[in-house]
Order: sequence, then structure tokens, then C-alpha cells
Amino acid sequence: MARPKIALIGAGQIGGTLAHLAAIKELGDVVLFDIAEGTPQGKALDIAESGPSEGFDAVMKGTNDYADIAGADVCIVTAGVPRKPGMSRDDLLGINLKVMKAVGEGIKAHAPNAFVICITNPLDAMVWALREFSGLPHNKVVGMAGVLDSARFRHFLSVEFGVSMRDVTAFVLGGHGDTMVPLARYSTVAGIPLPDLVQMGWTTQEKLDAIIQRTRDGGAEIVGLLKTGSAFYAPATSAIEMAEAYLKDQKRLLPCAAWVDGAFGLKGLYVGVPTIIGAGGIEKVVDIKLDKDEQVMFDKSVDAVKGLVDACKGIDPTLA
Ligand code: APR
Repeated sequence: MARPKIALIGAGQIGGTLAHLAAIKELGDVVLFDIAEGTPQGKALDIAESGPSEGFDAVMKGTNDYADIAGADVCIVTAGVPRKPGMSRDDLLGINLKVMKAVGEGIKAHAPNAFVICITNPLDAMVWALREFSGLPHNKVVGMAGVLDSARFRHFLSVEFGVSMRDVTAFVLGGHGDTMVPLARYSTVAGIPLPDLVQMGWTTQEKLDAIIQRTRDGGAEIVGLLKTGSAFYAPATSAIEMAEAYLKDQKRLLPCAAWVDGAFGLKGLYVGVPTIIGAGGIEKVVDIKLDKDEQVMFDKSVDAVKGLVDACKGIDPTLA
């Protein structure tokens, strides 16, 4: 059977890491696309040359021509600009919206059957715009945010509790921004919810609140340290987890920026919710119950996302 084809639109920090991970995990052949001449070609060759040591046979191709993504099974989009210190994800809106138009049209023309994972920020608005520009079905276009935000939360919790990260599960919903909603009640150590762990004396509510805030600021913390760009290892790993769930029909239950139309009382919006990813793309949005405080936080996050979508419509009238 032919290997799946994975197209990476954007061959920067995240794009290159995605290509390397896809190769090492033998998920398929990889096409790296970028507007910068030489960058995708150079990264593709460099990664291909790691094949003999790593022991993979995936084909790596770098290109500046959308025709080369033809027939891709998965497209992962990182094209655009990352933020610099002091910038919020929302500051990227105008410039990255133009990029989503070009990318959406490229995918529409050459890879209309792909499962598309958007990483470009501001995430929830960009995945919405990408879906609009590409015209693909909503269940085949999704944003990567919740897996990353939850991974950050899980990492901080595992350090706090001194337990393996594998035994910590966590859910972060809502928009991928300052208003994201880490759900303590639905986050556990081997099934024991965080509020119970506070009662058991494993941590204090103050420490848990600080971890939740650090999770919300997780991206900014790394931007502040790197100074020249934003996080790329964990974002790439998170998107690869989603791509693998689709390619292997794993039916993973992962928090993603998905199209929500009916669940959570929403009428047509991309926002972070629990989803099931399998061969059908987003096969289900899992409509969990939120308590009063969680609902208030989720509503605030939804309003922030709606504001960004409206801003996109203001910038590009074809989206209105
Ligand atoms: N088409 C294709 N590629 C483009 C386009 C375009 N229209 N515009 C820019 N690019 C490319 C750049 O040439 C660059 O190689 O996108 C790449 C982005 O790479 P980086 O600047 O290294 O950014 P990265 O860290 O990979 O983040 C990409 O993901 O997490 C988000 O906020 C982040 O929006 C940013 C995106």
C-alpha cells in the first residue's frame, strides 16, 4: 500500500519539527511547502539525511509550488508569522489572515480531500478563516490548541505531584488565548480529579491556581525566553498526535478547535472542545457538562473568539 502523504504548509520552526517527527514516526511521505525559496528544500534534504541513522524510508520533498501537495491525506498549516515578546496571538490577525487566504486556496485546488490541521495563530479565528477560504467540509478542518494547552497543564501538574506525565490527564477548552479554560474538575492523576487531590493534601488551591495561570500563559512564557520566535517542539508534537489519530483511525478523544454547531449551546463557531478524531476527521464533538463557574469562563472565551472572527470579517469583506 502506498504511504500516506503529509503536506506541511509552512517550513519554519514548527514545520521543520513536524517533518522530522512525521519521518521518525513513519507516518508517511512528507512535502514541505513554503514561500521562502530554499528553506523547504534545505529542511527536506537535511531530514532525509537523518534517515539512514534513524532508519526510516519516508520521502522528503521541499517545494515552493502548491502543485506538489496534490492528493495529500493530511495538511498541517503553520504558514504565517509567530509572535515576538510583548505581542499577543491576536496581534498577528491581519497578516496571518492574508496567509490563510493563499493557503486555503492552495489546499482547495490541490488537496481537497485532506484532513487539515491549522496551527497558525490566532488559532481559533485562523482555522475558521482557513475553512472558509478552502471550502472543505467542517469536519475535515480543525485547529491544534487544546492538545498543546493540555500537555502544558499535564507537564506542570506532573512536576507539582512528582508523578509520571503519562498518569496525568487534563482538559483545556475554549479559545487558544488568555481566556482558555483549563478544567480542573475534568483533569486527573490516574483518574483522581484535581479537586480531590487538593483535599488529599497533594497540593493547595493556591498552587493549583498558579499552575492554571501558568498554563494560560504557557505560550508567552516561551516567547519571553526565546525572544526570536514562539514555541515549536510541543506544538509540533501535539499536531502530530492529531494527524496520527486521523491516519490510524484511532478514535482519540482530544481537545481541539473544532466546528461546534449545536453542542455547548453554540451555533456555528470554531472553539476548543473535546472531540473524537478518527478516519472521518472530527467524528464527534463531545458535549460535556460545565458547572456555573466553568460556563462563565467558557462563555468569556467564546466571546473573545467571536470578536476575532468579526475582526477577520472587517478586514476581508469576502468572509462576511
Ligand atoms: N505561504 C507559505 N508559507 C508562508 C507564507 C505563505 N503565504 N507566509 C509565511 N510563510 C512561512 C514563512 O516563510 C516561515 O517559513 O511560514 C513559516 C513560519 O515559520 P516560523 O516563522 O518559524 O514560525 P513558527 O514558529 O513555525 O510558527 C508558525 O504557528 O504557533 C503558530 O504563532 C505561530 O502563527 C505562527 C505559526
